[in-house]
Amino acid sequence: MSKKIEALRGMDDILPGEIEKWQWLEEQARLFFQGYGFKEIRTPLLEHTDLFSRSIGEASDIVHKEMFSFEDRGGRHVTLRPEMTASVARCVIEKGLLSQAKSLRFFYMGPMFRAERPQAGRKRQFHQIGIEIINEAGQAPDLESIRLLHFFLKSLGVPGLKLRVNDLGDQAQQQKTAENLRDYFSKQKNSLCKDCHYRLEKNVLRIFDCKNESCQPVIDQAPWEKIAPLGQDFQAIIERLKTWEIPFEVKRRLVRGLDYYNGLVFEVAADGLGAQDALAGGGRYDRLYSDLGEKSTPAIGFSIGMERLLTALGDTAADKARENLIYFAPIVSEEEFSDKAKNICQLLSQTISKLGALGMKPVLGDPKLKLDDHLKRANKMRARYVIILGSDEAKNKQWTLKDMDNKSQKVVSHGQLFSELKQVNV
Ligand code: HAM
Repeated sequence: MSKKIEALRGMDDILPGEIEKWQWLEEQARLFFQGYGFKEIRTPLLEHTDLFSRSIGEASDIVHKEMFSFEDRGGRHVTLRPEMTASVARCVIEKGLLSQAKSLRFFYMGPMFRAERPQAGRKRQFHQIGIEIINEAGQAPDLESIRLLHFFLKSLGVPGLKLRVNDLGDQAQQQKTAENLRDYFSKQKNSLCKDCHYRLEKNVLRIFDCKNESCQPVIDQAPWEKIAPLGQDFQAIIERLKTWEIPFEVKRRLVRGLDYYNGLVFEVAADGLGAQDALAGGGRYDRLYSDLGEKSTPAIGFSIGMERLLTALGDTAADKARENLIYFAPIVSEEEFSDKAKNICQLLSQTISKLGALGMKPVLGDPKLKLDDHLKRANKMRARYVIILGSDEAKNKQWTLKDMDNKSQKVVSHGQLFSELKQVNV
């Protein structure tokens, strides 16, 4: 027998039974962000390697160690996207989108690739939901990004949200900060690992990304307040967070692992995620567009890790995913269900498509099954409701609606069915 081929390490299949939670989450994200005026954008999974090395930074762990890069058949250096902020910027610049609109608001969802060591909460193919607010002036988008992230996660029911914020300063200040940090870390060079020596030379801020135990005391003792006191804009943002009653912690060593940030950066953690507790991260990146050849363009955004989000949600995601699941159990004879019995088939397909349009998830059971088997199936897929259509019901245009939670059932007219289900759906 030839050897079986398995999926690559850190790259998971998502099977029926699991996929419903993903579909539910994607739907929630779409509804939420569209509601706030964001338009969906999809960019290719594969981009020129230069895009990421120039934006995320040569010295970042992502570019230095974690990208899936290779030479394609035409000898081009290409990379599976490790994140999407750079791809969105590439697309906006390439397609001249800022000449068609003063500002842009995008959301996206999809797979990203990073060759990290796989462990709980850390995959090589993982998925993100993200937003980018491009070319909106002033500080308003800073607060809005955090507010959208916080209220989106809250609306889903994520437990134990913890928001961490930091100020990386404006461009001029970032240079001064880097010089002062280089002074500080140079004096401590002997206590730093080999990777940090490389970071010290290439981009000192990346030392804060180091996970090596021996480097932690030196990193923790970096005299941030002396080196880079919090700016006025940042102080104003955290005052507004208080007004919005969004709890936060200022974490000075939060620098985020990507070079393009300046000013406000933030991260959200949640309960139940173990060591990889960062659920989402983002910040302001006013330099990225000019670094990629566009005029200077203010921008801010964040991304949420979908695997981690589903872990944090636990059973809630599965429960929510089944809320709209409606199982149809036709118990009519084969004759009645055939093409000849146009009226039953028509009634079913009209009802199913109407329910689908109302945001519910109808599933049609096999008409050959007996009622008991239908109920077993509905139970297995954890459908909340079963709609039974027998011969008499079909004749009278009536349905039996069974609530699988409390096992009650009632006969409703065709018209009533929609109002009943609409009520439970809100
Ligand atoms: P990031 O912090 O690198 O930011 O990733 C955002 C989220 O993606 C993390 O908080 C985490 O939940 C998830 N994530 C990252 N790596 C992995 C992994 N190996 N396995 C599972 N989940 C992972 C960005 O990607 C930026 N593009 C965010 C942004 C958007 N900044 C501005 N706009």
